[in-house]
Amino acid sequence: MKKLEEYVRSIPDFPEEGIIFRDITSVLQDKDGLRLAIDQMQETLNGVDFDIVLGPESRGFIFGVPIAYNLNKAFVPVRKKGKLPCETVEMEYDLEYGTATIEIHKDAIKPGQKVVIIDDLIATGGTIEAITKLVKQLGGEVVKIVFLMELEGLKGREKLAGYDVRSIISYP
Ligand code: PRP
Ligand code: ADE
Repeated sequence: MKKLEEYVRSIPDFPEEGIIFRDITSVLQDKDGLRLAIDQMQETLNGVDFDIVLGPESRGFIFGVPIAYNLNKAFVPVRKKGKLPCETVEMEYDLEYGTATIEIHKDAIKPGQKVVIIDDLIATGGTIEAITKLVKQLGGEVVKIVFLMELEGLKGREKLAGYDVRSIISYP
């Protein structure tokens, strides 16, 4: 069987010149690739005590939901601005290409709840930094952050100092 990293497809100059896009569709569309990705991310949570998996739109949903389901935990979606119907907290942040605003429903995290954040990739770390601030604002505690892929050169981890961060595949 192929190694997990061999399922990731790298596309130069997408969505703009100079970016190497790490494409997960080639992982997902192969049953072995999908299983390896979910299993290896999930294994990082062995022995971790937590209440909620939180995943950012849209690729964080793909990995977050099966892991929450397998571990019998709740899943909280973090959405781009304007998509959630009830009262939210929101934060603007910078991405590798562009800016965005994310929102979480105010009632999704109760004070004292332990949260694991799951996403496909860390680039600048802007998305997850914004999420950690929103979780804190709602009284939750981020106990672990798990990525399938990390773009080390963008030093996103520096924005997450003090958090337990794991990535399965690293690109220099
Ligand atoms: C991508 C990716 C991460 C984020 C990483 O999502 O899935 O969530 O960017 O970038 P950062 O570390 O610089 O914050 P994107 O906002 O492009 O949305 P998508 O998943 O809907 O494509
Ligand atoms: N999100 C931000 N940067 C990315 C990249 N280089 N590849 C895939 N998704 C990304």
